[in-house]
Amino acid sequence: MKNKIYRFAVIIGIFSLVVSCKNPKEKINGQVQSEQDTLAITNEGLYRPNFHFTSATGWMNDPNGMFFYNGYYHLYFQHYPDGTTWGPMHWGHAISTDLFNWKEQPIALYPDDLGYIFSGSAVVDHENTSGFGADGKTPIVAIFTSHDPKKEKTGEIDVENQSIAYSLDEGLTWTKYKDNPVLKNPGARDFRDPKVSWDEQKKRWTMVLAAGQEIQFYTSKDLKSWEKLTSFGEGIGNHDGVWECPDFFQLPVIGSSEKKWVLLVSINPGGPNTGSATQYFVGDFDGSNFILDESFKQEMGKEHTFWVDYGRDNYAGVTFSNIENKDGGKLFMGWMSNWLYANEVPTEKWRSAMTIARTLELTKGENTFRLVANPVPELNEFASEKLKNSDVLLEGNTLLTTSKAIDFTRAQINFKVEDLVDGVYTFELSNSEGDSLRFGYDTRKGNYFVDRNKAGITDFSNKFSDRIAVAPRIASQNDWTGTIVIDKTSIELFFDDGQTVMTEIFFPKAPFDSLYFEAPSEESKLEYIEIHQLKFNLN
Ligand code: FRU
Repeated sequence: MKNKIYRFAVIIGIFSLVVSCKNPKEKINGQVQSEQDTLAITNEGLYRPNFHFTSATGWMNDPNGMFFYNGYYHLYFQHYPDGTTWGPMHWGHAISTDLFNWKEQPIALYPDDLGYIFSGSAVVDHENTSGFGADGKTPIVAIFTSHDPKKEKTGEIDVENQSIAYSLDEGLTWTKYKDNPVLKNPGARDFRDPKVSWDEQKKRWTMVLAAGQEIQFYTSKDLKSWEKLTSFGEGIGNHDGVWECPDFFQLPVIGSSEKKWVLLVSINPGGPNTGSATQYFVGDFDGSNFILDESFKQEMGKEHTFWVDYGRDNYAGVTFSNIENKDGGKLFMGWMSNWLYANEVPTEKWRSAMTIARTLELTKGENTFRLVANPVPELNEFASEKLKNSDVLLEGNTLLTTSKAIDFTRAQINFKVEDLVDGVYTFELSNSEGDSLRFGYDTRKGNYFVDRNKAGITDFSNKFSDRIAVAPRIASQNDWTGTIVIDKTSIELFFDDGQTVMTEIFFPKAPFDSLYFEAPSEESKLEYIEIHQLKFNLN
């Protein structure tokens, strides 16, 4: 016991030192206030994330057309600049050199005669297959859904068609193709969200598209004329909601030379904890047919659905084109909200943020393949002021540290618990307003959980905190490791090396100022815990 108190006194001591070196910056009403205190009292200060992308103003949903080129990551997004609820869709745009500091750009695509600009993708057309290249400039081609609101109103079926646009200045400005749409609706009300990639084997483009309750595969030589190949999904996977925003890519299996194809399909509603979520399938692809892997199929029979993220706030996520990590993993970002309540969350100038960028890889477990997601390594570049301890004995509810030592609005925690015993392990972030966000692992139920029911403002929607979100644990070893990424209004949990991921948003009435951890037994200990201050500029 003494030992424990001593260790944490040391930890808090070190951090108090660091914090007290920071001089308060402003005087307001005769009182000295730190920058953080001043910001926290406004809606912006309380809720605008420090390092998750938000548009400066207006509504945002799905990430679109993400690609990497010439040192820049490009993020386009479903955007309604004239209001903070969903409306006529544009593609907003932001660029970054490090995946965390995003600079918003002028709007990339405006609605036109064919309708709103719905979700889609963008590719770097290195070989100028489209013929849009000019003066030696490589064209970037965006493929998106034109959604016709007039036809929608009159109840017509062919509301959604696929269109393209190209950019000759590396994604900054766009010209719509004169012969849009390039892929006409064959008679499906939901026919949208094209994701295109280059098939190196067949030297042609592949498109996956959500069409009703299935994913359709198309091919093209020039991105302008498209031919249908196959469909996937009838009677397979979760069909409790509409299928949207597919993605399709090959991933290496960690620790082997094997590669497998992964199909992501977002579904709304029908998520594991209600509302929107993204399921995935693992299999093989011969250039035309996506065939489920046999072991994956068998496991699907037992578990029904494989989810990219079990939290309620990671939807419509897709991967960046024209970039992989050194092992062939893909970079992924999702929309950090849920259609259940996205239009009602209590932010004023803007609505919704993106998740942080994550790497996607595959592992082969005992029975089949699993998608694993982890923060991109670029996050480490921003981690500093490390608070580190090992062999921490835990008795009852233990205060790990407070905001005197660490600003919990931009923090990363890595931890490991060994020798798990029966009961509930709970981390708790709390503040002076009595708000508390609880998350952890219930070993008896075999579930991870996030409880945001008392984490601040929840009454904007009765769907926001009607339950505790849970995720079945996949890992089987008797220790538990995790990486926790915390911003002002979000938590991203990557447990067991990214095998189980949960992303959830919350709206506390004041910034969290204390972090507790409670273990079920006196003998429990934290094998290690590291708390990093993420050095992002304060918003
Ligand atoms: C998914 C989605 C897409 C559509 C877009 C419209 O969140 O419904 O299917 O293209 O949002 O904003």
